[in-house]
Amino acid sequence: MKTEIAATGTPNEKASAVRWAVALLQSGEIAALPTETVYGLAADALSATAVVKIFETKERPRFDPLIVHLPELAWVERVAVIEENARPLIERLIAKFWPGPLTIVLPRREIVPSIVTAGLETIALRMSAHPIFSEVVRAFGGPLAAPSANRFGRISPTAAAHVMEELSGRIPLIVDGGPTEHGIESTVVAPRHGVIEVLRSGPITREELGKFGEMRSRGSGAPESPGQLPSHYRPQTPLVIADDITQIAVPHGQRFGALLWSDQPFSESFMESRRLSTTGNLREAAANLFRQLRELDHSGLDCIVAEALPEEGLGVAIMDRLRRAAHW
Ligand code: TXA
Ligand code: MG
Repeated sequence: MKTEIAATGTPNEKASAVRWAVALLQSGEIAALPTETVYGLAADALSATAVVKIFETKERPRFDPLIVHLPELAWVERVAVIEENARPLIERLIAKFWPGPLTIVLPRREIVPSIVTAGLETIALRMSAHPIFSEVVRAFGGPLAAPSANRFGRISPTAAAHVMEELSGRIPLIVDGGPTEHGIESTVVAPRHGVIEVLRSGPITREELGKFGEMRSRGSGAPESPGQLPSHYRPQTPLVIADDITQIAVPHGQRFGALLWSDQPFSESFMESRRLSTTGNLREAAANLFRQLRELDHSGLDCIVAEALPEEGLGVAIMDRLRRAAHW
């Protein structure tokens, strides 16, 4: 299969890219689309045969459920149940953060094929703020299942070229919406009666969520996001996290690369380096993270040394991704 890239630079290009994606999705095909977090691989969420193609294309294990993206709010209670004691919290979260990078896990309804939720009794819902994604899902007129458009366990794509690297020859279309804004996947929460449990950290921080309810960490035995495997976002090059990069000496003859956060001086024997932000800005760091990891991964290095970031605000989500990238 030849994978086409549809440009969206002009209004005409954008309109024809949207029509092309919608036509594919309506015929039960899959297409890669930009969202404000990372690129997604979309299919009709109400068609099991379409959704199977996502799992096959990504080589994703069937136990890992997909996020369902909604065209409008009216769809929430068509695919999920809002329990009355949780309704005030859920409605406040939706009013504040949708459309945007927050995914909400709720009890599911039967209309959704069980392959989408990997057999779970819950469903993960999101409404994208991306102009292209939201136009496609509205024109499609129903929910779209869309995980990140990478092969399973690998670095999520934040540009059309990354999707091409991951899925070229496996999908018919990538809609190119340029680099994504946030650069890391949505925050996943399970809201219950006054309590918000974070299943995956992301662009919406604990600090922001804490204004809406009591924050709970995942206790042992509590449900977790099945896709949150310790080894994920994996570059092919071994990656280690350094609390103090000034202490790292590159072994003789080894090709090391650095993924930097601070402006500490570091050994000149690093072959390659990337700086997540030149101004200490965590939003910029998150937006650069996966692209820079990919670039370092392509540099023929023996090891990538990533500098630890402060674990506050967005730093929590960035460190979560780095730890998973470091897990071998
Ligand atoms: O930003 C994002 O969320 C991107 C864009 C494309 O929307 N999507 C994304 O999807 O990151 P994916 O499939 O790569 O990650 C989905 C995460 C997984 O960790 C999965 O386990 C979790 O959401 N998830 C899905 N359904 C769930 C459920 N019912 N209960 C708990 N976790 C769930
Ligand atoms: Mg993913």
